[in-house]
Amino acid sequence: MTVVIVSGCVGTGKSTLAKKLSKALRFEYVDVTKLIKENNLSDGYDKKNKCEIVDVKKLNKFLVELIKNKKNLIIDSHLSHYLDKKYVDLCIVTTCDITILRERLKKRNYSVQKIKDNIEAEIFDTIVIEAKERKHNLLIVDTTKGYDLKGILKEIKK
Ligand SMILES: Nc1ncnc2c1ncn2[C@@H]1O[C@H](COP(=O)(O)OP(=O)(O)OP(=O)(O)O)[C@@H](O)[C@H]1O
Ligand SMILES: [Mg+2]
Repeated sequence: MTVVIVSGCVGTGKSTLAKKLSKALRFEYVDVTKLIKENNLSDGYDKKNKCEIVDVKKLNKFLVELIKNKKNLIIDSHLSHYLDKKYVDLCIVTTCDITILRERLKKRNYSVQKIKDNIEAEIFDTIVIEAKERKHNLLIVDTTKGYDLKGILKEIKK
C-alpha cells in the first residue's frame, strides 16, 4: 500500500500534479474538496474568504478510514499534510514563484484580499514548514516552470 499526499498553497499546482501521478501510477485519485462536500465534512461556509470551514480532525478521521480500506492513493488537498506521518509514504508539497502564482490566482475570480492572503501564505512557506513540523517524508516540487515527472515517480517507487 502506498499513500502519497499532495499539499501546497492555493494555486501552486496540487491537482495538476496529483492527477498526472494518479494516471501514471494507476493510483486512485482522492479529490478532498469533493469528498468534503459529498460527506458533509464542512462546518459551514466562510463567506468572507469564500471557502468551506473544515474541521481537520473530522477530515483526518475520514481519510484514515479511506487509507485503511484502499490500496494505493494520491490524496490532493492543502489539508492533507495534517495527516499523521504514519499513514503517509510521501508528502509532496507544491510551490510556485509568487509572480507566477499571482498571475494564476488573478485568472480565478478571487478578491484582492484572497489573492494577497494566498500569496503571503506562499511567501512564508507555510505548508512546507507545517509538513516539516509533522516530520513527513517530504518532496518539494516547484511548479513554476514545469517539473521532472519521472523523477517524482521514482521518489514514490523508492
Ligand atoms: N507545472 C505547471 N506549469 C504551468 N502551469 C501550471 C503547472 N501546474 C499548475 N499550473 C496551472 O496553475 C493553475 C493552478 O493549478 P492547480 O489547479 O493544479 O492548483 P491547485 O494547487 O490544485 O489549486 P487549489 O489550491 O485551488 O486546489 C492552473 O491554471 C494550472 O494550469
Ligand atoms: Mg486543486
